[in-house]
Amino acid sequence: MNHSGSEGFPNGNDRVRQDGVRHLLSLADLSDVDLDALVRRSFDHSRGAVPLTGQLNGRVVGTYFRTTSTRTRTAFSVATLRLGAQLVAYGPGDLQENTGESAGDTGRVLGLMLDGLVARTSAGADELRAIADWRTMSVVNAMTEDEHPTQAITDLSAMLATLGKLEGLRVLYVGEGNNTAAALALALTRYTGTELYLRTPDGYGLSQNTLRQARAYAETHGASVEERHDLENLPPDVDVVYTTRWQTTGTAKHDPDWRRAFSPFRVDAALMRRCPSAIFMHDLPAHRGEEVDADVIDGVRSIAFPQASHKLYGAMAVLEWCLS
Ligand code: CP
Repeated sequence: MNHSGSEGFPNGNDRVRQDGVRHLLSLADLSDVDLDALVRRSFDHSRGAVPLTGQLNGRVVGTYFRTTSTRTRTAFSVATLRLGAQLVAYGPGDLQENTGESAGDTGRVLGLMLDGLVARTSAGADELRAIADWRTMSVVNAMTEDEHPTQAITDLSAMLATLGKLEGLRVLYVGEGNNTAAALALALTRYTGTELYLRTPDGYGLSQNTLRQARAYAETHGASVEERHDLENLPPDVDVVYTTRWQTTGTAKHDPDWRRAFSPFRVDAALMRRCPSAIFMHDLPAHRGEEVDADVIDGVRSIAFPQASHKLYGAMAVLEWCLS
């Protein structure tokens, strides 16, 4: 009996698993060199230094957002089109995962037809890893409960564009140790001499795993990461004050009184006066009067909206890295 190819029936119509397929599921999966290449490519896109030559002509990218998104979904959709690929967009109710099909089967089927999938889930990384497991298409984490890796690429790209360097930067993060904070910690600590000061409400800090990994990176790179649950003893002369919304997309807080724990961590003019050299960053969406006052996010030291423009450049860099 003659089988055409080693896969044979019944898997003959599956694209062959490709060990070289690149996923971006967690920053911890990236080498330092790859992380830096993504950040610098994003920065290069932001300054118009990368000609658009249809880098991804002939490719098809899916976007699958199971929770709300303004920036990330738009950034990856526009990046797909700008790079010459075609787009298939799935909303939260579109795929049969909603009726019980497994993430593994979903990924296996989509991989028969798509070259890449940009996915935001409301669950942890396991769902994305199951979608990615068949390894016939690239899968990009557009945010899980644990980590928001493409946000950190955006953020470092925006810091590089605004401050001219990453090495040695001192960043004060104020607020929940959420997926954006986790990604920031896993990225910034891989740049020499950086200092990351996390000030998170008690019970809402970084996970122990993330903190351990960030400290290991910091040790390797002569950087430091410190977490406290109060706003005493702020470091002098930080370059960046960073916060995020208190109600992180796709997560819920079990303590009905959680706002009492968060209220001291609002970024207001008084806190910014304690950091006189710092710019202000926010991943958005913002809730003025909650995690940040309007005069801070709309003030002259805020780069929150230019920072949002780097979402597009970061998405372009990520898609090129995965699919070129
Ligand atoms: N910062 C961010 O991820 O924004 P969206 O939730 O709107 O994508």
